[in-house]
Amino acid sequence: MMPAVNVKLNGEKSVVAETKLAPLRTAPFPGVNDPAGRTLGDEEIALLTEVIRSAKLNRGAGSKVAELERAFAERYGRRHCTASTSGTSAIHVALGALTLEPGDEVITSPITDMGTVIPILLQNCVPVFADVDPFTLCLDPADLERRITPRTRAIIAVHLVGNACDMDAIMAIARRHDLTVIEDCAQAYLTEYKGRLVGTIGDIGCFSLQQSKHITCGDGGLTIADDERLGERMALFANKGWPNYGKGGRDYVMFGVNYRMTELQAAVALAQLPKLEGVVARRVAAADAITAAIRDIPGLLPPQAPPGGRHSYWFYPLLTRPEELGWSTADFARRLRELGIPAGHGYTGKPIFLYDLLRNQKVYGHSHYPWDAPGREGLPPVRYEPGVCPQTEDALARLVVIPCNEGFAAQDAQDIGKAIRLAAGR
Ligand SMILES: Cc1ncc(COP(=O)(O)O)c(C=O)c1O
Repeated sequence: MMPAVNVKLNGEKSVVAETKLAPLRTAPFPGVNDPAGRTLGDEEIALLTEVIRSAKLNRGAGSKVAELERAFAERYGRRHCTASTSGTSAIHVALGALTLEPGDEVITSPITDMGTVIPILLQNCVPVFADVDPFTLCLDPADLERRITPRTRAIIAVHLVGNACDMDAIMAIARRHDLTVIEDCAQAYLTEYKGRLVGTIGDIGCFSLQQSKHITCGDGGLTIADDERLGERMALFANKGWPNYGKGGRDYVMFGVNYRMTELQAAVALAQLPKLEGVVARRVAAADAITAAIRDIPGLLPPQAPPGGRHSYWFYPLLTRPEELGWSTADFARRLRELGIPAGHGYTGKPIFLYDLLRNQKVYGHSHYPWDAPGREGLPPVRYEPGVCPQTEDALARLVVIPCNEGFAAQDAQDIGKAIRLAAGR
């Protein structure tokens, strides 16, 4: 079916009104908030029941959190894992394990969840944003290097939507400037970069177990590292600086918070873990089927892992070139919705630093801290304004977000492929 009315483009605006498309699909797709789109079942219930019957709900009393940490560390081939309460806390655990000075800078990506950024502020450090690669939507290494100042201490590389950052380039930069690399893998379970799992390439890897992630226990986080000292400090930071989760004498050997995961969360996460390979394989199969159906359409750039890599498709990110496609990105996404595909436009909508929390640089009361922390005098001001990351703004404007999860049947991928062709008028 061709579009009812020929539409010309005037920048991002359609200049001719168009009739609504008839839905191609009326049944809902399996979603992350419904049993059909999740892998929660008898295994989770069994372990949860075991924990409840044991009456040991706290990590110090029970064994499931420790078991989860061991199993996750083993799956990733790391020596240390600290479980915590969220993906945000997993990143805070990583930063807390370092020795950062107030006013130090941490460079990260402007396309991410605020959970990547809040821990930087909690450690009294200044978030600095580097632009993204226009295709992978992950940090652009060249721009990252340009943002380094004498106060830069760490990089948080966000593996967005399940694709990998260019880790060779990022690690080379980190080595040149003596920076710690934290990988934010909240959206990137079992994602591979040149045959290596992301989360094991930098110094520390962080994962989220929040409802929408590949595996979930509602909310939760996991932080992995190989280095002995980092591993030890991660565990201390998540437990108020108290060694061995309260077993042994009372002591507080470093600053920390209480981010302890409960045995209830760990029971569910532990049952989810063996399902992870299947979850990712089914997501890849669904995404590959969508890509196969649309790869010849001019003006669409289906997602693709770099050579030797594996994308794990937290969702299906479809970039457009509106001039070639013949539709503005907003109109194209709207047409997909009319056809029955719950497509979104632009993910975070704008670079994360343009949200008021960051843009106003007011975090601690009315102060300008940590941007004006002692020792920052003479540094160029950190700006959170439009135009600071032009490639990010452009990519977000051209990004269509399409659901894709482990509950997808062949028909779901087929319907999405067909709808994309119709929406494009092909
Ligand atoms: C890339 C990224 N980092 C961090 C987080 C924070 O995770 P959580 O919501 O579990 O705190 C998320 C969650 O959406 C995320 O997508």
